[in-house]
Amino acid sequence: MIRFENVTFGYSEKRPILDDLTFHIEKGDFVALIGANGAGKSTISRLTNGLLHPTRGHVYLNGKDTLKTPSSALARDCGFLFQNPDRQICENTVKDEIAFSMKAQGWPTDEIEGRVDRIIKTFDLDPEWFPFSRSRGERQRIALASVLVCEPGLLILDEPTTGLDYLECIRIMDYVTRLNKEKGTTILMVSHDMELVQSYARNVLVLNHGKILGQGPTNEIMKNMDVLKKARVLPAQIPELALRFGDEFKDVFTVEEMLDALRAKAGKGGAL
Ligand SMILES: Nc1ncnc2c1ncn2[C@@H]1O[C@H](COP(=O)(O)OP(=O)(O)OP(=O)(O)O)[C@@H](O)[C@H]1O
Ligand SMILES: [Mg+2]
Repeated sequence: MIRFENVTFGYSEKRPILDDLTFHIEKGDFVALIGANGAGKSTISRLTNGLLHPTRGHVYLNGKDTLKTPSSALARDCGFLFQNPDRQICENTVKDEIAFSMKAQGWPTDEIEGRVDRIIKTFDLDPEWFPFSRSRGERQRIALASVLVCEPGLLILDEPTTGLDYLECIRIMDYVTRLNKEKGTTILMVSHDMELVQSYARNVLVLNHGKILGQGPTNEIMKNMDVLKKARVLPAQIPELALRFGDEFKDVFTVEEMLDALRAKAGKGGAL
């Protein structure tokens, strides 16, 4: 779905932000991209959807070279949720906001109306709301609905839950998970929140100073303290605790698994 081949990129001539980067994300995967501030995560997102082009190397989205494909064509395959929803919202009603990108992509009017109505109901929005006067969580839901109404095969989420309360966060992430599982939508999620990554991502890509430091299943990366430390990322709490408890806890990643493991240990009369 996404292929970076020897990609080098810099905003200026002096110092490349990404340096000879090669990686591949499979169709249908749910990948978290993690790394310290300024590591280049948002730059990777913008290279993927063709907003930026590599200085050297190639980026392929669904087999299409972003250097040779207009970004309007790439936009059909790739929905992008900005770090800040206010940089995305531009219309005066929810209805117009959600219809905006479908109109820009030239969809027929009746198809636009049908899809906009459906997604407004799914996301529990009001078509006449003025988006900018809504809460942060509602603005995030409006922005996400306007991306998903086009049903992109790839969804890029740049810090999707920043500023959301717990329930809004669960609501958005559960919806995204259902899309991934039921419709096979590929998800690339940039996040600093390792609890979120542990709960939702299947695989993780660790970026450090413009290079890939590690890539693999979430459960493996979450216990690779060496890689997380180098990338200046704090691990999720349960995997970290499990690691400290030792080998008997090697399969523990969630609160439930921790409780089961502790009960089993207590049943055997063991002490921690
Ligand atoms: N438009 C720009 N012009 C010049 N430099 C930029 C631009 N955007 C980002 N940079 C620089 O490129 C580097 C990578 O930035 P990027 O936004 O990709 O990092 P990030 O990993 O997303 O960081 P964060 O976690 O803070 O969102 C940083 O040093 C940043 O200052
Ligand atoms: Mg960023």
